[in-house]
Amino acid sequence: MHTLEVSNLRIWDEQTDKILVKDSSFQIEPESCLAIVGESGSGKSVTCRAIMRLNKANIRHTGSIKLAGLELSELSEAEMRKLRGRQLGLIMQNGMRAFDPSSVVGSHFKETLKQHYGWSQAEITARMARAMENVMLKDPVALMNKYPHQLSGGMLQRMMIALAIVLKPTLIIADEPTSALDTLSQYEVMEQLITLKAETGCSMIFVSHDLSAVKRIADDVAVMRNGEIIESGTAAEIFTNTQHAYTKYLIDAKQALNSHFIRSMGGLALVDR
Ligand SMILES: Nc1ncnc2c1ncn2[C@@H]1O[C@H](COP(=O)(O)OP(=O)(O)O)[C@@H](O)[C@H]1O
Ligand SMILES: [Mg+2]
Repeated sequence: MHTLEVSNLRIWDEQTDKILVKDSSFQIEPESCLAIVGESGSGKSVTCRAIMRLNKANIRHTGSIKLAGLELSELSEAEMRKLRGRQLGLIMQNGMRAFDPSSVVGSHFKETLKQHYGWSQAEITARMARAMENVMLKDPVALMNKYPHQLSGGMLQRMMIALAIVLKPTLIIADEPTSALDTLSQYEVMEQLITLKAETGCSMIFVSHDLSAVKRIADDVAVMRNGEIIESGTAAEIFTNTQHAYTKYLIDAKQALNSHFIRSMGGLALVDR
């Protein structure tokens, strides 16, 4: 069975009748990662939010979205709430927004874990501490007592990844999880996402502009443009046997950026991660 099977997904804005995603279909296999790439405004985030059922009220969708065979469109809001976090994990671009600014980050974790599992406080703390060590966060107890504004964007993303390691969702949706970070934090958060995938055996949707990150983590790639998947296949196929001119453009643009960077660094060899 596919972990996720999306068939004929169509998303539109009810206020303007604008079609945002046309008839999109894709599948994700157990323990595999689908990268969705494409220019800004092509419909990647509205697709992710349709799966989580977190789009704004004016954004409507039809089509079938099955998580491990379960048709999500037929679930009530209360049933969806139970699935979110526990089976459908979300890692957003801006980690700060996931947290309540007025409480320490540890209380967010405790609440979320208490909601999904009947663990004691001590067990929650122990599991969180172990997961935070997994993603190289030192001194977990001190970190859990910090307010979100006291932590960097990279730290917050890693805390979210640690939480996901404990929750072990079936599917993680990471929508541009590194775009708001500096280069070093981007690299670290990518490492931790790879750890998360290995630790939990989850499937993943990874939305990114960073094709070198896509190469590192994705098994399959879907290229979106103007609300349509214009090309899809295994990562190897997409990178070596590109069919569509637009995909070639994306890959070439990335290479041009790399060689510009190499030139501006005075010819230093840039290792393609
Ligand atoms: N809340 C919203 N209301 C109306 N239109 C929206 C809303 N969110 C996104 N859109 C529109 O949907 C299209 C796809 O957006 P989005 O999925 O955010 O693109 P991407 O994530 O690929 O950059 C864009 O044309 C965007 O303007
Ligand atoms: Mg987006």
